[in-house]
Amino acid sequence: MSTASHSVDFVQAGQLVRQTPNLPLEHLPHVSRAAVECHETESLQEKAAKEGVSATAVWTTPERLGAVGLLTPLPWDSVQLGRPSGRIAAAYVEPDAPESVPAALFANLEQQMRGAGMRFADFHAHVAHRPLFAGAAAHGFRLMTTHLVMVWDLRDWQPPFGPTCDLRLAEESDLPALEDLAERAIPPFSRFAVDPILPPQAGATLFRAWAANSVRGYADAVDVAVVEGRLAGYCTWRKQAVDTADGKKEWGVLDLTGVDPEARDRGVFRSLAHRGLSRMAAQGIPFAQVITDVMNTGMQRACGLLGAKTLSARHTFHWHA
Ligand SMILES: CC(C)(COP(=O)(O)OP(=O)(O)OC[C@H]1O[C@@H](n2cnc3c(N)ncnc32)[C@H](O)[C@@H]1OP(=O)(O)O)[C@@H](O)C(=O)NCCC(=O)NCCS
Repeated sequence: MSTASHSVDFVQAGQLVRQTPNLPLEHLPHVSRAAVECHETESLQEKAAKEGVSATAVWTTPERLGAVGLLTPLPWDSVQLGRPSGRIAAAYVEPDAPESVPAALFANLEQQMRGAGMRFADFHAHVAHRPLFAGAAAHGFRLMTTHLVMVWDLRDWQPPFGPTCDLRLAEESDLPALEDLAERAIPPFSRFAVDPILPPQAGATLFRAWAANSVRGYADAVDVAVVEGRLAGYCTWRKQAVDTADGKKEWGVLDLTGVDPEARDRGVFRSLAHRGLSRMAAQGIPFAQVITDVMNTGMQRACGLLGAKTLSARHTFHWHA
């Protein structure tokens, strides 16, 4: 890398040429390497081409991008959180980059965030991307939590249990009760709950709107469980296209879920998950994932009993202007 440049360059959206490299995956024998890599490393080219995504490249050479960060505004989150918000949609530093590179990358990203008038930003980074963290911390990104990515392999789906309560698809008329349920079920370790700078109601506002939006089309399906005539739990499901060695494939996402505190430990979540996963398996979707807090041992156990395996972990950072 004798030709390495330490200058900070701005690369126009859509001009990126390189994807993030392989992450360590030896502990994941249950899913094919190609599927995981593509899932974990959405094409930077694609991300950069999305509307409103800027690309900051630091330490580029004619042969490769040695460090790169993408910033995207979050219009929906801005409304829910009551402040202009954004996301570092991807950031990567090559392992052989000099120590000054991550700091330069985040200095540039912070400059862009401030220039765009952002007051809040988040950033999810694979835990293996250690070189990024000091640069992020030096520019105000504080660790909120660590999330685990858990994955079901649905290619030969043989659920160990069946549903044990009444389930149906959510309807518009469920909304007030569903929004209340979404708020009541927020775990105390949610990244919105533990952020000392966000207002205490921020998470509730966001989760209520997220659940309502899901019913109104953001999710592909919203299942609800009814116990003794009342909504006791819900699960929202989305499909996401990922690049694989065989081209674009659909990947299932368990997006949001919660069970009324008074209805827990009675198999409500298990029934909901069974229904959603069975539907996806019947549609030929090969994998489904859920992202949960490392502290959410109940969720991990409930998902594990239905066959989910931990795929990877990521740190979640928040930045405030
Ligand atoms: C996590 C959650 C959805 C589980 O719902 P639930 O209806 O209580 O779960 P189930 O009754 O279907 O439990 C399935 C299995 O997981 C176990 N489990 C559930 N919660 C558990 C906990 N807190 N600790 C240990 N095990 C737990 C159950 O005991 C059961 O296993 P078992 O049959 O061996 O006893 C519920 O606790 C919840 O709403 N939490 C807050 C919201 C949340 O965390 N959402 C997920 C965000 S990713």
